[in-house]
Amino acid sequence: MTTDDAIRQLAATLRGAKRVTVVTGAGVSAASGIPTFRGSGGLWRNFRAEELATPEAFARDPKTVWEWYAWRRDLVAKARPNRAHEVLAAWSRRFPRFTLITQNVDGLHERAGTENVVRFHGSLWDLACVSRCAGAPAAWRHDDPFEELPPRCPICGGLARPGVIWFGEAIPPEAFSRAREALDCDVCLAVGTSAVVYPTAGLIAEAGERGAWTAEINPKATPASAAVDLAVAWPAEQALDAVERLLAGETPAADRV
Ligand code: OAD
Repeated sequence: MTTDDAIRQLAATLRGAKRVTVVTGAGVSAASGIPTFRGSGGLWRNFRAEELATPEAFARDPKTVWEWYAWRRDLVAKARPNRAHEVLAAWSRRFPRFTLITQNVDGLHERAGTENVVRFHGSLWDLACVSRCAGAPAAWRHDDPFEELPPRCPICGGLARPGVIWFGEAIPPEAFSRAREALDCDVCLAVGTSAVVYPTAGLIAEAGERGAWTAEINPKATPASAAVDLAVAWPAEQALDAVERLLAGETPAADRV
């Protein structure tokens, strides 16, 4: 199947859909200049994400882990949502029920105006007290650049940590149950994820088992590619733009003059 045919098939299926669930990963933000975790450009000072995004790495060397997060915060602060984020934001209003489950911590879906975002891995902009001291909230937002690294809890003066989920930590229960509810849908679409990190990687398969039509948008094949109903081998910002143009070109009869 050509990419054009795949785009047309995706648009045709979405046209009849009422309940749409999209699962996104780092590839959605690639066109905004945010490096993905895996693949070329995925390394930071020769560290892999799995070597930094863990409670053990933080316990061993909080300054290095914080330098990585501070670097990513800086990149994201200068970045803007791209066409992929914009189309998904439009879809969050187009479909009667729409849920966007994201592994991204950059907040670009929210900045694009997407409704009903379920954040699996927390936020780059949240901090938490490592010792969960009594006076500090579970997490607090901190948008400004840091004066010192690692930053400190404003209540107890102990170490603060990024308000993100690390390898080995549980997905926030509320996010997980909202995501599982959203798997009862007509269309479930994975966009820009390597589909190797669980439990997110299992969501598309589960949606398929529950009867959803499933698709993937990723320029490279992933472990999910063979299992979905349609794999679109194209960058998200181009594929979503092309699908949106087809959807928008169809004027509903009630809107015609
Ligand atoms: P990865 O870095 O593992 O994968 C990014 C995917 O995006 C790859 O499959 C690329 O082929 C694809 N990609 C690149 N450019 C793209 C584009 N323009 N359009 C569409 N796809 C594109 O990122 P995730 O799957 O999000 O977790 O990684 C999952 C988790 O692993 C992350 O949330 C993070 C990481 O380590 C933690 O930190 C706990």
